[in-house]
Amino acid sequence: MTTSEVSPPEWATRRTFAIIAHPDAGKTTLTERLLVAGGASRLAGDVKARGERRRARSDWMALEQKRGISVSSSVMTFEAKDLTFNLLDTPGHEDFSEDTYRTLTAVDSAVMVIDAAKGIESQTLKLLEVCRLRDIPIITFINKIDREAKDPFELLDEIEETLALDITPVTWPVGRGVDFYGCYDLLTNRFLTSKKRGGTGDDIVACQDENDPALAARVPEPILETFREEAALAKSAYPELNAESYREGHMSPVVFGSALKDFAVAPLLDLIADIAPAPRRQPATPAPVEPDADYVSGFVFKVQANMDPNHRDRVAFVRLCSGNFRRGMKLRQTQTGKTLAIPAPIFFFARERELTEEATAGDIIGVPNHGVLRVGDTLSEKTDTRFTGLPNFAPEILRRARLDDPMKAKQLRKALEDLSEEGVSQLFRPVIGAQMIVGVVGQLQLDVLASRLETEYGVAAGFEQTTYQMARWVSGDPKEVAKFVEKNRVNIAEDRDDAPVFLAGSAWDVGRAETNWPDLTFEKSRDRA
Ligand code: G4P
Repeated sequence: MTTSEVSPPEWATRRTFAIIAHPDAGKTTLTERLLVAGGASRLAGDVKARGERRRARSDWMALEQKRGISVSSSVMTFEAKDLTFNLLDTPGHEDFSEDTYRTLTAVDSAVMVIDAAKGIESQTLKLLEVCRLRDIPIITFINKIDREAKDPFELLDEIEETLALDITPVTWPVGRGVDFYGCYDLLTNRFLTSKKRGGTGDDIVACQDENDPALAARVPEPILETFREEAALAKSAYPELNAESYREGHMSPVVFGSALKDFAVAPLLDLIADIAPAPRRQPATPAPVEPDADYVSGFVFKVQANMDPNHRDRVAFVRLCSGNFRRGMKLRQTQTGKTLAIPAPIFFFARERELTEEATAGDIIGVPNHGVLRVGDTLSEKTDTRFTGLPNFAPEILRRARLDDPMKAKQLRKALEDLSEEGVSQLFRPVIGAQMIVGVVGQLQLDVLASRLETEYGVAAGFEQTTYQMARWVSGDPKEVAKFVEKNRVNIAEDRDDAPVFLAGSAWDVGRAETNWPDLTFEKSRDRA
């Protein structure tokens, strides 16, 4: 048998990626189009339709709908080109950066969608920072090229400067706005155009190069002339696509296209198939885990509770990092040492959820459970592996939970505990008194929280200002930590793992604590122990 006949290991056929974008750039539309291009969904609009069905079942989703944002993230798996694509949706609102951060820990690459009229926007920038932090390679899709847009070179300059890495155009727009005729694929020399003026990208013309006479039959002379000049300049000004350089995070290929009109979506999928990395090595202690390790391992990056309000179920989203998982397998939850049988793992196919028999590194499986699995948990056949880099972040807003009906204190505590395990908010219990302090990154999270408390738990609650402005996890020599806790009891709370947290009134208080307790560290984030 020659090497070319040896089929790749199962995990090497996975492409696990996320689409990141500022709200309104076209992430939902592109997701739908990719599913269609991958043959996963016959009807564009499925993603929205499915979203709406789910929304109809749960009131807090109504909040999401009202605000026109997508708060929860989901997973869509589809098979195409002998590969399995796992597309993770990231929430598009800045308030949910923590949730988004965790979602990005579960992918091997990302597609950044930019609105061609707007360029890089604030939320894209934040998401980009996370990608850079984790060395996630990025393909850029410049969307909405079918309407008035910034100059392509201006957009490329902006991306190059912001990303501080090499870029290489993969497609180039032929005309813009009302004069838009399609996109030219510089890699495969194909003109992606429409059969009818103003239609979708349903016609593909094979060319020799940009000077092919076939183009003249489709595009008026002045527009073609401009395109040829621009394409020549682009080819000389930017380096050629180098897959290795992209995977190492030094280069971002740029695709100009239109999700709505379906221009350059198929080439984008081809690009992901051809160059996006298969499952990568994942950071863990005592050593990083390779995808071809001979044992199953994975981590929980998201917990979604009450997907169906009639059943108090929870689904933990587990990113598998190594090994071949089989239904019914028993895995050890490293943090607790408990063994967990997984009889009914779920696979999130584009059109529905299905029970899965097998899954491999790179796949995302849903594990239904009654609250034992938490964000940051490691599941492994080996007892000692712990994945790292899934921290809790210090909340920027701290509020005291206020109950309208004092008889419901127990329910409120339970609900806040549940929702903190899901990662919606954090819960801090001051060591003195019976208050519950809730920590969130943004105001919107508080609205979601109040709405979910009411609809899912029947608890009417509000959130009041406190004197606390910031939270810091205290760590160091246990004796020293205990001494600090004893001396500052009114400002100490415990988090969901009973770890001590310093609730400070100001940055100055934190600074003073750092000066007075030089052997302790006051951390802004904490990895799940
Ligand atoms: P998001 O998930 O990133 O928030 O964006 P979404 O896909 O919902 O797209 C935002 C708006 O931009 C939508 O219009 C969508 O139709 C439009 N859009 C997306 N891609 C393209 C494109 O390639 N070209 C053009 N011209 N428009 C595009 P909307 O009117 O806000 O929503 P809808 O009523 O069409 O659903």
